[in-house]
Formats: sequence, structure tokens, C-alpha cells
Amino acid sequence: MNFTLTEEQEMIKQAARDFAHSELLPGVIERDETQQFPSEQVKKMGELGFMGMMVDPEYGGSGLDTLSYVLTMEELSKIDASSSVIMSVNNSLVCWGVETFGSKQQKEKYLKKLASGEIIGAFCLSEPEAGSDATSQKTTAIDKGDHYVLNGTKNWITNGNSASVYLVIAQTNIEKGYKGINALIIEKGMPGFEIGPKENKLGIRGSDTHSLIFNDVIVPKENRIGDDGFGFKFAMKTLAGGRIGIAAQALGIAAGAYELAKKYSKERRAFGKEIANHQAIAFKLADMHTQIQAARLLVYKAATDKDMGNDYDLSGAMAKLYASQVAMETTVEAVQIFGGNGFVKEYHVERMMRDAKITQIYEGTSEIQKMVISRSILKN
Ligand code: CAA
Repeated sequence: MNFTLTEEQEMIKQAARDFAHSELLPGVIERDETQQFPSEQVKKMGELGFMGMMVDPEYGGSGLDTLSYVLTMEELSKIDASSSVIMSVNNSLVCWGVETFGSKQQKEKYLKKLASGEIIGAFCLSEPEAGSDATSQKTTAIDKGDHYVLNGTKNWITNGNSASVYLVIAQTNIEKGYKGINALIIEKGMPGFEIGPKENKLGIRGSDTHSLIFNDVIVPKENRIGDDGFGFKFAMKTLAGGRIGIAAQALGIAAGAYELAKKYSKERRAFGKEIANHQAIAFKLADMHTQIQAARLLVYKAATDKDMGNDYDLSGAMAKLYASQVAMETTVEAVQIFGGNGFVKEYHVERMMRDAKITQIYEGTSEIQKMVISRSILKN
């Protein structure tokens, strides 16, 4: 397998790196502290084509491959994982879902605006009692002929208030189990659709996470994605790709913390020399570098599988499982290398440590990834 980047991929990676340093780094500490959504930054990400990277240019996207997308996710996540999750949900879950399974009319109406970053989207599967166990949807979409009536509550929704378009998974026919679930496109402002309070989170505090409440929301049938009962498979297929984006986010958080720790260890002196020259620190850096490189290969492999039309359920789950574990371990080690300074906000690594944790939880916990992996390896 050849992971040598093309000239275009190198340019995209560099453009993402430059953008992250010039536009995301300023104010990242304050946005984390005050839970401020990066509106200006997201607008610029749209202008650069980062909000619909894999979408066909016919629908306002950049028409790039998944590898270019993960390179961009990695670079942005090195600096600001809050901004990168906003981008990831919009690209992997919302744009990809609508482009792959939406009708021509849905693509014309929603995808063009989503892919250009004019508006952003949210993906609404989780519920108070259906996080990992996604088939247990309590939100109902009752079929009333030419429309559905939507009722229920969704939890922990990324882009919860900032989105304009929401892909909502709901149960239409309980007797059919997961085959009775549908995916509906909901617009902000539809009567009966309320946005709940913002969650006060440990990490990725710049992104806005809310619960959503649906009270007799009338949803036209033309807003259903795919055939009746396709909603659960829609969610699973979409999440399989989303996991590659989150794996790239985790990789970026780990790599960002490692880069800072390495630089710091060559500047900070103790016991008469730079701390990098103490084996206790040098060995930590060696482990971090090795683990990050292994995670990177898994992430690139999953992205390449998707680009080549191969199955990517297994490689995406492995990439997410491992990269998120590396993100957690690496950021903890980075804080350790920084010592007392690591515990202080201005050195960034404590934020990265807090941000890393969510990569082991959203778009399927580590335990869910192990379920997907073990089922895949045991089925033959
Ligand atoms: N692609 C296509 N079909 C799939 C699929 C996939 N990746 N995964 C499952 N399916 C199909 C199965 O084939 C099966 O269909 P058939 O009977 O026709 O074969 C059907 O879906 C049911 O599958 P399972 O029996 O495997 O279902 P399960 O109840 O055992 O659950 C699971 C499987 C993998 C645990 C799933 O529930 C899951 O992924 N849970 C985690 C959900 C999740 O990731 N939540 C995160 C919320 S989104 C988020 O975090 C976004 C954000 O804001 C950042």
C-alpha cells in the first residue's frame, strides 16, 4: 500500500495547517473557556471548501477524496478540536448522508448550502436511552399519509443550535424493530421543534452540544431519506464513514500534543540539560511518535478503503478505536512532559487532554468499535 501523498494532497495538508495556525489558534483558549462557537472560523472554513470536502462540485463541494479530508481534519485538530468536530459532522455525516442516499430534490435544496458552508448540519441519533443501543429509538415519526408527525427528544447533538438542517432518526413502526426506523430532514424553525439548553462539557467546548425536543413536528414525506424503513441502515452506513473523520480528529489531537511536547522538551532545562536529553522524556517521545505513526497508518488505510470502494466498517472502527486511545494516552503524557506548565491553560496541552476524551465516546464508544471489529473478524 502506497501512502505517498500526491502533490495536491500535500498542498491541501499545508493549506489546512496554515489555516489552523493563522485562523484557529488565535482565541482557541478563550473559546474553550467561554464555550464560544467559532462562527467566523467556520465561515472561513466554508470559503476554503472544508465544509463539503468530498461533495461533488455540482452540489457546491470540493470533490476531493477521503484521504484529503482526513489530512485536513488532522491539521485542524492539532490546533482546535472544537472546530474540527463541527467540520467532521458536516462532512462525514450530514453531507455524505444526503449526497449518497438523498433524492435529487433534497440535494438541490440542502446539499448545496451545506457543502459550501452557507449553512451547517447536525446528525441526530442519540437519545437519553439510546446512545450505544441505537435500535432502541424512542423518538417517533408517525406516518400520516403525506407527512410524518415527529415526537421525542435527542441528546448530545453536535452543532445542536448552530445547525440549520438536522438529520433525525426516528421510529415509525415499532413492530418492525430497526426495519421500522426512518431518517428525516428537519429544518430549524419548523413548528414544534425546540432546541434544549447547551451542555457544559469537559472538552470540545467551542462546539455547541444540545438536546433537541420535537413536539408534533409536521415533516413532509419528501424529507425522508431513502425508502420507508431505511433509517437505521442509513445511520449505520453514515456512522461508518463518520468514524474515519473522528479517527482523524483523534490523530490530530495526539499529533498536536506531541509536537508541543517535543518542542517544549528541547527548550526546557532541568538538571543541567534540556529535558529531551533525559531518557525519561526521550523514551516518552519515542513511544508517542511510534503510536501516532501507527494510528496515522490505520486512519489513512480506512480513508483509502473508502476511496477505493472497499468495505471500511472494520478499518474505520479499528482506526477510531486505536487513534482515540492514542489521543488519550499521548495527551496525558504531553501534560506530564510539560510538568506544572502542562496544568496551565496557556500551554494548550491540558485542553487537548480534555478534548481527547470525547473521541473515545462519540460516533460509537470504544466498546462499540470493539463490537464492530469483533463481529467482523468472527463472521468468517
Ligand atoms: N452498514 C450497513 N448496515 C449495517 C451496518 C453498517 N455499517 N451496521 C449494521 N447494519 C445493519 C445490519 O446488517 C442489520 O441489518 P440486516 O438484519 O438486514 O442484516 C441491521 O443493521 C441491524 O444491525 P445489528 O443487528 O448489528 O444491530 P445492533 O443493534 O446489534 O447494533 C451497533 C449494532 C454497531 C452496536 C449499532 O447500534 C451502533 O453502531 N451503535 C452506536 C451508535 C453510535 O455510534 N452513536 C453515536 C451517535 S452519533 C454522534 O456521536 C454524532 C455526533 O454528534 C458527533
